[in-house]
Amino acid sequence: MSAESELKRRQRRWRSMLWSLVAILVLSVALPSLGYVMAQQVYGTEREFSEERATNPRADMWRDARQGQGGFTTQTGPYVTDTLITNVGENWRQIRMGPMITWGGWFLIGVLVLIALFFLVFGRVRLEEGRSGMTVVRWRAYERALHWFTAISFIILAITGLSLLFGRAVLIPLFGPQGFAAYAQGAMYVHNFLGPVFSVALLAMILLWIRHNIPNRTDWQWFKQGGGLIGRKHPSAGRLNGGEKVWFWVGVVLFGVTVSVSGFVLDFPIFGQTRETMAIAQVVHAVVALLWIGFFFGHAYIGTLGTEGALEGMTRGRVDVNWAKQHHDLWYEDVLAKGEQPVSVDELEKNKTARQAGGTAGQASH
Ligand code: HEM
Repeated sequence: MSAESELKRRQRRWRSMLWSLVAILVLSVALPSLGYVMAQQVYGTEREFSEERATNPRADMWRDARQGQGGFTTQTGPYVTDTLITNVGENWRQIRMGPMITWGGWFLIGVLVLIALFFLVFGRVRLEEGRSGMTVVRWRAYERALHWFTAISFIILAITGLSLLFGRAVLIPLFGPQGFAAYAQGAMYVHNFLGPVFSVALLAMILLWIRHNIPNRTDWQWFKQGGGLIGRKHPSAGRLNGGEKVWFWVGVVLFGVTVSVSGFVLDFPIFGQTRETMAIAQVVHAVVALLWIGFFFGHAYIGTLGTEGALEGMTRGRVDVNWAKQHHDLWYEDVLAKGEQPVSVDELEKNKTARQAGGTAGQASH
């Protein structure tokens, strides 16, 4: 390319850049001016227009709505039925749909991951001496019945409660909107009716077992030695160890009573509860229930996979003597001191067979 044509090409480029700049400047002045003139036609005088511009009418409406400004409605009711959006309701919605769902979901997943890691690293706490074949009574039938009624109700309440909280994110994609609506309706009924019954059982559990859960020095030593879960040393413990007492006081008493009372406020809105009260009750109910479910995962893990021989105490009522000596040595000494004699598994089996045979014979003779 010659030097002359190169010069022309550069000049053309500069000229087009200059024109583009002028066009941008003209448009950026002309278009707002045009809008301004048109707006003046619509809104009237310049003074009126600048006032209007300062206060966007739709923003005003939203502001009124957010500040709980009442309007007119033919609907009658006891509280704020004329209010389109209550401030407290909108704030509550944002908390529920935002941090509560996000943090709550991650919290539960985190607890499950930690439990799985704990199991992989430390494994199951085994019976060091194996089974002795001799057993003692740990939980009576009425105690077990109450425990399992509470536990099963808790699980149903947790599943229905979590379905209502996370349903939009997790279940609508699975069931579809209509399927979820039908399920959520059922889940809500179950949750609302079972909740109060569960609270009564929980109260009975607290009253029944409070005497076993009074903290003492042995518990402190138990904590100092890591509860025997970490490391292979087994600290002394009475009927219940320090960890079980934390589950009782924090899980069952503190979380249980908080969830029950807040649930009662939500379930029976007949005491003149305001929207504020309902919003606060819902946040307290859901947050504490989430913490409680996380804690419950730990309790259920320790009672099943985590500790060999623990579950049979709560299913059949008796535990192996070696389990009693390893986990609750002071309690085992008490049991012997009270004169209870360990019974062998074989003897229990024989007695059971004899009882069954007696039952069948009894039935046959009728
Ligand atoms: C699948 C669920 C559950 C399992 C597998 C389970 C398992 C167990 C086991 C094995 C024991 C006896 C521990 C021992 O003998 O030292 C126990 C005790 C206990 N459980 Fe559960 N449990 C479950 C759910 C629950 C729930 C939902 C609650 C309360 C809401 C609960 C409250 C208690 C209490 C209070 C004790 C007595 C120990 C203490 O006072 O801390 N459990 N559980």
